[in-house]
Amino acid sequence: MALVKMSRILEWAQENNCAAGAFSVGNMEMVIGAVRAAEEANTPIILQIAEKRLKQSPLDLMAPMMVSAAKNASVPVAVHLDHGLTMDCIRQALSYGFTSVMLDASLLPFEENIAMTKAVKAEAATFGATVEAELGVVGGNEGDTAKHEILCTDPDKAKIFCEETQVDCLAVAIGNAHGNYPVLPSLRFDVLEEIDKTVDTPLVLHGGTGITPEMFRKAISLGIRKINIATASFDALANAAKAYTADVESPDYFTLSPKMADAVYENVKKHIGIFRNQ
Ligand code: 13P
Repeated sequence: MALVKMSRILEWAQENNCAAGAFSVGNMEMVIGAVRAAEEANTPIILQIAEKRLKQSPLDLMAPMMVSAAKNASVPVAVHLDHGLTMDCIRQALSYGFTSVMLDASLLPFEENIAMTKAVKAEAATFGATVEAELGVVGGNEGDTAKHEILCTDPDKAKIFCEETQVDCLAVAIGNAHGNYPVLPSLRFDVLEEIDKTVDTPLVLHGGTGITPEMFRKAISLGIRKINIATASFDALANAAKAYTADVESPDYFTLSPKMADAVYENVKKHIGIFRNQ
């Protein structure tokens, strides 16, 4: 049984001065590839899916697969709802056995974000689950949501937010964005440093696709303990499918499936090495 609370993985990251990779999945091949990479690297990971992705990958199908893969893994694996938007979805994920949920109320006014985060903390506590919240606005879009302008997290507000909500980890906005960056972003490490000085809560970096190893290492040195990777894995899978189907006259699923899993495995393996400062 290797399904663990996300708080345990955050503690591991803190003790090892590294970050845990949180890898988004949307089908069986992605789950298989990500867990294989974690097992080979003997490193805990977080498997996650965002509420907006459930249209393509329904929770009633994904959740049992993710939870089962975690339970059977030889390394600790947390199963996490990424960007939970509704209490209904958060409750469903918790009842399927997710060990962690994120509430994304970052577009709401500060006080409302605090109130909703407190409500999610109370709900998650009945399941012994971990809670992530977001303050400030991460750019880009997750799923089919509209694109957002970046709004950096205010360190003083982060302190109040963490004290009031007692949230287990906090996603920060420091110039990061979801999706492929059109140009390499200039992350606001000065803002991250201030937040790290002001709050004790483990910090989360969204929008990991396209960030350089040097930037990841700098972010980890300034308190980032969880890093989200989605687009790079989805793109790796889609490109593997494209390369295989372009190459053969009669593509078959049974050859394609392991190729997709391998592509995700390679991407997850690469990021695990960077996040462990190897
Ligand atoms: P990317 O799609 O940029 O990797 O971002 C992932 C993420 O932050 C999911 O919440």
